[in-house]
Amino acid sequence: MKLYILLVLLCLCIMGLTEDPSPGAPEVFSPSDEEEEMEKDVQNCSGQWLFSSKERRAIGGAIERLGLQLLKNLPVDQQQPNIILSPLSLAFALAQLTLGARNETEKLLLKSLHADSLPCYHHIQGGLLPHFRNTSLEVATRMYLRPGFEVRLSFVEESLARYKSRPVPLVDVEEVNQWVENATHGHIPNFLESIPHDVVLMLMNAVYFKGEWQTRFDPQATSKGIFYLDNQNSVSVDMMKSAQYPLRLLEDPELEAKVASFPFKGNTSLLIVMPLPGGRNVTSVLPELNISDLYKRLPQEKTMQVNLPKVKLQYRKELEEALTKMGLGSLFSGPNLSGISDHPLKVTGVRHASTVELSEEGVEASATTVITSMRSVSLFSVNSPFLFALVDDATLTPLFMGIVTNPAPDNNPMPSDDPHVGNGTLSDQSVTENVKRDINNDNSNRSCSEIDPVDGSSVQSCSAPTGDRE
Ligand SMILES: *[C@@H]1O[C@H](CO)[C@@H](O)[C@H](O)[C@H]1NC(C)=O
Ligand SMILES: *[C@@H]1O[C@H](CO)[C@@H](O)[C@H](O)[C@H]1NC(C)=O
Ligand SMILES: *[C@@H]1O[C@H](CO)[C@@H](O)[C@H](O)[C@H]1NC(C)=O
Ligand SMILES: *[C@@H]1O[C@H](CO)[C@@H](O)[C@H](O)[C@H]1NC(C)=O
Ligand SMILES: *[C@@H]1O[C@H](CO)[C@@H](O)[C@H](O)[C@H]1NC(C)=O
Ligand SMILES: *[C@@H]1O[C@H](CO)[C@@H](O)[C@H](O)[C@H]1NC(C)=O
Ligand SMILES: *[C@@H]1O[C@H](CO)[C@@H](O)[C@H](O)[C@H]1NC(C)=O
Ligand SMILES: *[C@@H]1O[C@H](CO)[C@@H](O)[C@H](O)[C@H]1NC(C)=O
Ligand SMILES: *[C@@H]1O[C@H](CO)[C@@H](O)[C@H](O)[C@H]1NC(C)=O
Ligand SMILES: *[C@@H]1O[C@H](CO)[C@@H](O)[C@H](O)[C@H]1NC(C)=O
Repeated sequence: MKLYILLVLLCLCIMGLTEDPSPGAPEVFSPSDEEEEMEKDVQNCSGQWLFSSKERRAIGGAIERLGLQLLKNLPVDQQQPNIILSPLSLAFALAQLTLGARNETEKLLLKSLHADSLPCYHHIQGGLLPHFRNTSLEVATRMYLRPGFEVRLSFVEESLARYKSRPVPLVDVEEVNQWVENATHGHIPNFLESIPHDVVLMLMNAVYFKGEWQTRFDPQATSKGIFYLDNQNSVSVDMMKSAQYPLRLLEDPELEAKVASFPFKGNTSLLIVMPLPGGRNVTSVLPELNISDLYKRLPQEKTMQVNLPKVKLQYRKELEEALTKMGLGSLFSGPNLSGISDHPLKVTGVRHASTVELSEEGVEASATTVITSMRSVSLFSVNSPFLFALVDDATLTPLFMGIVTNPAPDNNPMPSDDPHVGNGTLSDQSVTENVKRDINNDNSNRSCSEIDPVDGSSVQSCSAPTGDRE
């Protein structure tokens, strides 16, 4: 995997706005040193800066639940066959909002964050930021304030102390987009078309991940392969292939899925959960997914043959609908955000954009990889819809999660007439793909991409491998 980028933006505006916060007001950001009625925290968390790994795991589990819930509430369909999101990024944004929420709204937010039973929540969640400096993850946060908007100093101070979110005057959309582009290393340009004049506060964070496989894939070995969308259809994708790849692989009878963990350098790993063909689909596996449980049960690394699609996917989504389904609808109608300002505020949008790229890249293969002599070739071929999670190994926090049902949405699907679909042998297909590719080398491209709708016979050579080793 090369890159993962994501951004969550919470826009707040004054409710029932009639008074104009006069954009372009000369006085730049003066958060008015008003009454500092910051009540002391119920718990005293300040003395305790080093949190135990158990506490961090608890936060990781809370972030995982948030991510799973969101995945469940986002549609997967033909138009949007893939979802990529960062539960971590959303958790940071909602946690920061929680700092300014009061009364029912605060309770509701803590509940959605699964933080209502976690002591010192903001301290531990915020403490993840320095922790991630030891990984390949970059998190950037920032708070845009409309000049003239009166914000409580305590909110600004807490946001800075806990979430390193610096206040910056909201000037124009170009400046915001420039920051987004920079924080995502150029991968999300033109994030916003415009900023409505009634938006007075924007809470933003950007997460950037660039990981190097511990064991790289050889670009020379990448070739066309088949990805089975369902029992009827497949698409042609670029498959990264390795004949000898060290992998922790588990076939889970309860999930009815194959589960594998691909390690990156720097203590993160990519978890892939691929339901077995003929069983359940990716969405129906979601309710039972439990990352820490799976990591506990994954066996030791074993060298095997691995096929992984090379993908580059983008996802942009306004999350209001999904968050409303999760019970956070009142954020958009009438929340109590009196910790941010005396003006009645509401959330106008939660914007989210992400891209993911899986590629061969990685530094040289680990020299310690033992190439065992293999008596029987086992194979893990990621060639049907799967769930993924990019996991921080220390805290088991899902940094990113997603569902991929079509890794090549721009390619035309073709009928899949593989006789083994639904018979549990899908994953063994690719052994023969190489053979087939060699046979059809000269014309496979044409027959794969240009399906004859009448004849259909040309499809055969593309999707139906002949002969099966197992
Ligand atoms: C919190 O704990 C620290 C040390 O543990 C102590 O110095 C400080 O006074 C405590 N604060 C409150 C408000 O109890
Ligand atoms: C996973 O299962 C363990 C118990 O096996 C439980 O403590 C933990 O809360 C579960 N995590 C999630 C995210 O459901
Ligand atoms: C918001 O919460 C504060 C603090 O609990 C409370 O004083 C205030 O009345 C609440 N506002 C509304 C509109 O409920
Ligand atoms: C919370 O809000 C409700 C009404 O919205 C109000 O009745 C209650 O007194 C508030 N609680 C506090 C602690 O302000
Ligand atoms: C980062 O890693 C170094 C060495 O591996 C360790 O000493 C340090 O405590 C780590 N920092 C955090 C915040 O985890
Ligand atoms: C872009 O980001 C880098 C760090 O990622 C920072 O050092 C630099 O100042 C930023 N540039 C702008 C124009 O914000
Ligand atoms: C990864 O974790 C191991 C211990 O689990 C630690 O020794 C090593 O320093 C960590 N690597 C990084 C880059 O933090
Ligand atoms: C997944 O399976 C469930 C039933 O198990 C079904 O309701 C749902 O529509 C299926 N989703 C997709 C995307 O096929
Ligand atoms: C499934 O595989 C078995 C042998 O493993 C075979 O007898 C059976 O016909 C296959 N079923 C389908 C639907 O291909
Ligand atoms: C196959 O198709 C791809 C894109 O459609 C093209 O880049 C490539 O050159 C083609 N290969 C052959 C052998 O025609």
